[in-house]
Amino acid sequence: MEFKIFSGQFSAGLAKKIAKELGQKLGRIEFRKFSDGEIWLRYKEDIKGRDIFIIQSFPSPAENLLELLLMIDAAKNSSARRITAVIPYFGYARQDKKDQPGTPVSAELITNLIRTAGADRILTIDIHSDRVLKFFKSPAENLSADMIFIKEIKKHLPKLPKDLVVLAPDAGSVKMARSFAASLGNCGIAVIDKERQKLNQVKIKKISGKIKNKSVIIVDDIIDTGNTLIAAAEIAKKKAAKKIYACVTHPLFFGKAIEKINKSSISKLFITDTLPFSFGKKSTPPHLYLGSGGKKIKIISVAPLLAQAIRKIHKN
Ligand code: R5P
Repeated sequence: MEFKIFSGQFSAGLAKKIAKELGQKLGRIEFRKFSDGEIWLRYKEDIKGRDIFIIQSFPSPAENLLELLLMIDAAKNSSARRITAVIPYFGYARQDKKDQPGTPVSAELITNLIRTAGADRILTIDIHSDRVLKFFKSPAENLSADMIFIKEIKKHLPKLPKDLVVLAPDAGSVKMARSFAASLGNCGIAVIDKERQKLNQVKIKKISGKIKNKSVIIVDDIIDTGNTLIAAAEIAKKKAAKKIYACVTHPLFFGKAIEKINKSSISKLFITDTLPFSFGKKSTPPHLYLGSGGKKIKIISVAPLLAQAIRKIHKN
């Protein structure tokens, strides 16, 4: 059985890199819009009986998710043998429980939609909550970007400081921080007790762990407004950290996040390309143009990691 890689429009840049890693060309899909904005799409290749991998991250707007659902449905209706939804950034994963009366469990609904559309499997990276994978009730794999970050850190700091501490900016990132610290040779970890006052506002209640005179690496899954990261960097600086680095998988970079990061005490921020954007030159949508900022920011591609996982899934 042959396998084929297809992509939604939002993730086309990353998908091309993945296909190249796999020695393939990206499968052809035609996308159009009706005058009222409704999406129309069509596979321009025969996918009957094939093992299909559809790559699409879906931050808002919801069109990105909708496009993924329509691609899955079209593949199912074209008798693809197996469909894997490769979702580098899984939107809505932060809404994995009913946090107040009257709120939806958004991540569960979206996972159900992906399954109902016809996906047999999900592959993602550093999903905000493992609960979301369980909602899928079929094989769902979550890769970790920690090894690619660590490889890059080692390039940046060939002599790893002996005084390294991994800082989790909230309770949700402790698991990621532990795995990071273990891969860095069991260095120490510190944890921030963060309180969300409003949707995108954070307040630090306390920090546990020693960071005085240490080199700190803040790790997190998402930068949205940048408030969590900046608050973590500020407290690390206040507690006399020597140098501050950060590794964050999904750069949503809402609003003035880049400016805030450039002004902060973070020396270097490592991010991945699960979300597409460009610095320096204007690119055509759907890529997000982030101006000439981002001097401190280094982008590391997850394409080799995803390509390897796709190869393994294909070979069962
Ligand atoms: C939340 O629990 C996540 O792990 C991130 O810390 C959060 O989404 C980052 O958001 P922001 O950049 O707006 O603080």
